[in-house]
Amino acid sequence: MHDIQQMLEEKRAKARLGGGEKRIAAQHKKGKLTARERLELLFDEGTFEEWDMFVEHRCVDFGMADTKIPGDGVVTGYGMINGRLAFAFSQDFTVFGGALSESHAEKICKVMDQAMKVGAPVIGLNDSGGARIQEGVASLGGYAEVFQRNVMASGVIPQISMIMGPCAGGAVYSPSMTDFIFMVKDSSYMFVTGPEVVKTVTHEDVTAEELGGASTHTSKSGVADLAFENDVEALLMLRRFFNYLPLNNREKPPVRPSGDAASRLDYSLDTLVPDNANKPYDIKELILKVVDDGDFFELQPDYAANIVIGMARMEGQTVGIVANNPLVLAGCLDIKSSIKAARFVRFCDAFNIPVITFVDVPGFMPGTSQEYGGIIKHGAKLLYAYAECTVPKVTVITRKAYGGAYDVMASKHLRGDVNFAWPNAEIAVMGAKGAVEIIFREDKGDPEKLAAKEAEYKARFANPFVAGARGFIDDVIQPHETRKRICRSLLMLKDKKLDNPWRKHGNIPL
Ligand code: HXC
Repeated sequence: MHDIQQMLEEKRAKARLGGGEKRIAAQHKKGKLTARERLELLFDEGTFEEWDMFVEHRCVDFGMADTKIPGDGVVTGYGMINGRLAFAFSQDFTVFGGALSESHAEKICKVMDQAMKVGAPVIGLNDSGGARIQEGVASLGGYAEVFQRNVMASGVIPQISMIMGPCAGGAVYSPSMTDFIFMVKDSSYMFVTGPEVVKTVTHEDVTAEELGGASTHTSKSGVADLAFENDVEALLMLRRFFNYLPLNNREKPPVRPSGDAASRLDYSLDTLVPDNANKPYDIKELILKVVDDGDFFELQPDYAANIVIGMARMEGQTVGIVANNPLVLAGCLDIKSSIKAARFVRFCDAFNIPVITFVDVPGFMPGTSQEYGGIIKHGAKLLYAYAECTVPKVTVITRKAYGGAYDVMASKHLRGDVNFAWPNAEIAVMGAKGAVEIIFREDKGDPEKLAAKEAEYKARFANPFVAGARGFIDDVIQPHETRKRICRSLLMLKDKKLDNPWRKHGNIPL
């Protein structure tokens, strides 16, 4: 028995060494941690249970028969994050560059299947050269098996991808179907085709970093949700983010008690909105002053910043925040912001997270680039997302709610549960100036008459009481009591039940 135990320990030690000391040193030299070091940071100390440490590839082509390394380039298993269960796979770049073989894929699929059965999130730490080139189609099949599971798990368990090295070719499509993608600055990149192929096909000179680095995907493409400075920061932030999420779609997110009183008033909010309706202000100030402890986990801050999305807590309960930001493009809805918010609302809806919407929106963005880009279809995504959403929805109009954007932004008509407006809110088809220019087009040469009509239109419509008179607004509230009123609404909505009619699936405009 002693010898057998000894042999087991030796086998384990070999597996833990992955591609060997030299490759581990090379990984460290790049500022990257190894697959196992990453898992140690991600999970609570000593809780990670590794599976399939002894799995090897089965390839015999291109001299692969004698190159078996136990674990085959990916470490898989489960553990606890702040005492809650999660499954993970962590690709080991020191073994064949983390390239995905058939066996490597089988290991990932095994944890995904188990996570689905027990109802716990899957976290993927990606660091891979892509398909194991020596394996050919077996590797492609492996990818497709993972993709299929990504789709089946979507909306059932949260899936999070952390890109910590290369992620190229078709390999990008597994992370892209997960709920959130985080990246590490300067050491990770994602693209469908690399710089050499780009150069050959489009004659563009571009570096890997420019083409698919963290800054590209968090500011230009919107593929990634956040970028972190290094592996350590990334994994610690991932642990923080995990705390907001439920383990699966049948449970509610965890409640973290807070000392921040639900009844807390904030009088500085009474002067947040400038007197001049055309002057911007930062909607994030409102968010920070309303949520528990000023703690807001913003997602995609550098992409489509005219809309703000992220997680926060109200009386300890996770909420999703969506807010137009008048600081950027006057808070208009455009293609990018509609898609950004739509996907977030759908995530919240799938995972029982109430949605709080702060509205200050002058409308949809006009222009040929928006129309040619399909704002009709893409704007409809947000409309669709809010309309199908059955979790508690609380909406606060802080200033403008004009036109179609009024309807879209979690209005009463889209089954908003509680819709508030601040006293200065303007809920109308459009701003007074634009309205008068259309209605009194023939009086273009009479600025005095136009000014009088504008004032009249403003007095008639630039307030929340017309909507209030119809019950489209449940109450007009003082800005300083916003937190209190939202907390009360959420308490009332705690056991909300609402089902959409049965269907195979809807047909959201894509
Ligand atoms: C097999 C691979 C590999 C791969 C890297 N390696 N990628 N082995 N299959 N895909 C091996 C290398 O041979 C090397 O082995 C070790 O991993 C480390 O790689 P290096 O090149 O030394 O590292 P680095 O200089 O950091 O470059 C990393 C890299 C590069 C940029 C990822 O390795 C690379 O370009 N690899 C090929 C990428 C690729 O074309 N993949 C297929 C994409 S298509 P040794 O023994 O020397 O240490 C795809 C389709 C998926 O993925 C489709 C899904 C539907």
